[in-house]
Amino acid sequence: MANKNVIFCDPKYLEKDLSGKTYIVTGANSGVGFETTQQLVKQGAHVVMACRRVDAGNEVAQPFSTLKGSYEVIKCDLADLQSVRDFVDAFLSKHSKLDGLACNAGMVNMENTPKYTKDGFEITMAASFYGHFLLTELLLETLKNTTNSRMLILSSVVHAGSKKKRHQLHFDDLEWKNRKYNNFDAYSEAKLASILYAKELAERLKETSVTTYSVHPGWARSNFGSGGSALIRGIMALTKPFVTMLNFSDSSWESAQTSLHCLLSDEAPKHSGRYFSQHSVLYSDKECRKGGWPMQSPNPNADNMNDAKKMVGITRGLVGLN
Ligand SMILES: NC(=O)c1ccc[n+]([C@@H]2O[C@H](COP(=O)([O-])OP(=O)(O)OC[C@H]3O[C@@H](n4cnc5c(N)ncnc54)[C@H](OP(=O)(O)O)[C@@H]3O)[C@@H](O)[C@H]2O)c1
Repeated sequence: MANKNVIFCDPKYLEKDLSGKTYIVTGANSGVGFETTQQLVKQGAHVVMACRRVDAGNEVAQPFSTLKGSYEVIKCDLADLQSVRDFVDAFLSKHSKLDGLACNAGMVNMENTPKYTKDGFEITMAASFYGHFLLTELLLETLKNTTNSRMLILSSVVHAGSKKKRHQLHFDDLEWKNRKYNNFDAYSEAKLASILYAKELAERLKETSVTTYSVHPGWARSNFGSGGSALIRGIMALTKPFVTMLNFSDSSWESAQTSLHCLLSDEAPKHSGRYFSQHSVLYSDKECRKGGWPMQSPNPNADNMNDAKKMVGITRGLVGLN
């Protein structure tokens, strides 16, 4: 049963002919990324599926062969800077334009001890943010050279925190070396960084035709969070039917609506840099629960352009762009 609170993309944009257009979707083999990819291919686009597991991408994409558009799967592990660079090289060896970059993939470390990538980054921040940052920066010229191209990055309601605890970026310890680790706080900070990045990029690109967006997709019935310990997996499996029955969560199709609106609608480019949120019972600020395209985040730290610029400067150094 569809949740009556879901905000749907105007169907006219889901009928647009996308023949000749090229998109990249990260994390395209699962959940929101899969639904976004399938819809773009259905409308005639060529979608490059940037997947950590190429086999998984090829497997889920099998039904796409009957659709109007086309796809290819290229390996991209966002928690590995060299893999991101290799992906961009492979993409640019075949494509000279990019109509839309959907930085969709994301994960949360389900253990309450930090895990570090081989580049030395806390894994949640690396896979959800640093990898997307490098990917986007390396593709910026291609986006600029494509008329009216769009970039979106998946954030989450959790970036907002609560009135008592608003998440913020800890520039003195982004890698959780000197703070007591909290995996969900690490995820929230990565999602706050994503909102700030979309804002900073919009400002940097305001003289171009590229537009940017950050997105809370809703509470998706996807594979999200399934990689945890046996206990966490058990709790998630047990609670999923109740969450679904009580209509708290949405299907992955419903959760792809905000991304599709940002990629395809005529309205979204009027709000470049803004935060677009599906409805969510998880906002502690009740007035935010209905979501909005775009919506004002209740977290003032998500509007701090000084932090946004500082974070971009630091991240450039971390990912080797300086
Ligand atoms: N589910 C929700 O309720 C919810 C709420 C708010 C925000 N979000 C955000 O929405 C986005 C999509 O999530 P989803 O619900 O569709 O989850 P999902 O079904 O778990 O899909 C996540 C995708 O990200 C990929 N991924 C994870 N780590 C990666 C890495 N290091 N490199 C490349 N790809 C990687 C996964 O690949 P594998 O299959 O190989 O693991 C998978 O394709 C994420 O950014 C998530 O944070 C989700």
